[in-house]
Amino acid sequence: MSPGRVRVAAAAANPLRDPQDRRLPRIAGPCGMVIFGVTGDLSRKKVMPAIYDLASRGLLPPGFSLVGYARRDWADQDFAQVVHDSVKEHARTEFREEVWDQLSEGFRFVSGDFADDVAFDTLRQTIQDLDRVRGTGGNHAFYLSIPPRFFPDVIGQLKEHALAEVGPDSWRRVVVEKPFGSDLKSARALNATIHEVFPPESVFRIDHYLGKETVQNILAMRFANEMFEPIWNSHYVDHVQITMAEDIGIGGRAGYYDGIGAARDVIQNHLLQLMALIAMEEPTSFDARSLRVEKQKVLSSVVLPRRLDLHTARGQYTAGWAGGVKVPGYTQEQDIPADSTTETYAAIRLDIDTRRWSGVPFYLRHGKRLGRRVTEVAVVFKRAPHLPFTETATEELTQNALVIRVQPDEGITLRFGSKVPGSAMEIRDVNMDFAYGGSFTESSPEAYERLILDVLLGDPPLFPQVEEVELSWKILDPIVQYWASRGVPDTYEAGTWGPASAAAMLARDGRSWRRP
Ligand code: BG6
Repeated sequence: MSPGRVRVAAAAANPLRDPQDRRLPRIAGPCGMVIFGVTGDLSRKKVMPAIYDLASRGLLPPGFSLVGYARRDWADQDFAQVVHDSVKEHARTEFREEVWDQLSEGFRFVSGDFADDVAFDTLRQTIQDLDRVRGTGGNHAFYLSIPPRFFPDVIGQLKEHALAEVGPDSWRRVVVEKPFGSDLKSARALNATIHEVFPPESVFRIDHYLGKETVQNILAMRFANEMFEPIWNSHYVDHVQITMAEDIGIGGRAGYYDGIGAARDVIQNHLLQLMALIAMEEPTSFDARSLRVEKQKVLSSVVLPRRLDLHTARGQYTAGWAGGVKVPGYTQEQDIPADSTTETYAAIRLDIDTRRWSGVPFYLRHGKRLGRRVTEVAVVFKRAPHLPFTETATEELTQNALVIRVQPDEGITLRFGSKVPGSAMEIRDVNMDFAYGGSFTESSPEAYERLILDVLLGDPPLFPQVEEVELSWKILDPIVQYWASRGVPDTYEAGTWGPASAAAMLARDGRSWRRP
């Protein structure tokens, strides 16, 4: 009997004994969370609702505590009201009074800015009180949902006020939201600051794309099946297109977005992570170390195009239409300087110099105010080497493609040629679809539910490690520096699919972008 079969047999005898059995609910032990930046968009729209959803699914410990830290002069009840409103508006699961009552008993608020020593002392005291009255056991995660320029201040204060210190049986973790630096140099400086206070295993960097079901499913699809692996290489794959299109503009985020732009905002993190998952070799297991090793191999094998002018494109949206409404151009958005050169669209070609991928371009694109919201990975296959049909029979046949639909219409599509019914031989593209809604009754948790639970459990595989973050900046830095040297970006009208230069970039390679 193989070792694998022994394990299965043992688990069948007593499933509760098998720590590997992922069907058992993963429930966090005694703990609490402190959020810095509770008044921000991210906290209100994602983090707080996710905490409620976890509580409502029974995945938080009964004494879970949530401490808000911000400048407002609030009492605990005011903070609770803010969380209440955000949960009512954004939570995924139904609002239940009994869940709310138990959860909100653990809410506390500490008022202060990041330089306020007295407030940090109060925070320490608050946490100690919670350990006593709520049984949080000294286990607390500090969630930095704040602009990155404040990270060093907060990390420094956590150190000064002994908030990062752990007892023999307790833990302290820090959760850092992107952007993780704005280039390699600043990312390294930030890592150094954080690691002075928290050991690497206590640092959780959020890339919320890794928390999405459809993104985790890339690994399931690739490594739980036999049929994809033989064709997952340069012999069969022509190229890969990774698209993250948004119909929204920059909303109220001018302060963050201007000067950062599309490439640093999402290509450096979400899209390069997607690329790594598509391109990596099979990991020896799904633990954090094995995943990191394989992703790192991909990122360190990336080759930039020699001609950045020909193989990258960037643009900025001008006024146009979105969802039937007239919308302003980027430089007319509130708080954006009229002469801003920040790109709101970016497309780049990357090559991966490995035996598996040599000669297969990976095209990554992202833009705001595009035709519609869609994120997908399209693996486009080569044409059959020979077609025993007349030219007219295959006029409407394009290339086979496997499209992983990350959002919003989650699923996978396989495109291939099929005979059109009739007396003549005519072949046309058809789609075979897998849709989450049609195959599963379970609805997908929000990315933040999964990631927050993993932080509380201390489970790191879905969090990018420092090496991946730095390698990603190494890829991106030369591109954004090149763009900066070229002044103003191209433009595209809001509601369209990006600047003409992006289409030209692919046309030069004899290809075209998919129109999702
Ligand atoms: C964030 C970016 O990381 O992802 C935003 O900073 C972007 O600019 C957002 O809008 C998109 O996330 P999602 O999950 O809606 O695709």
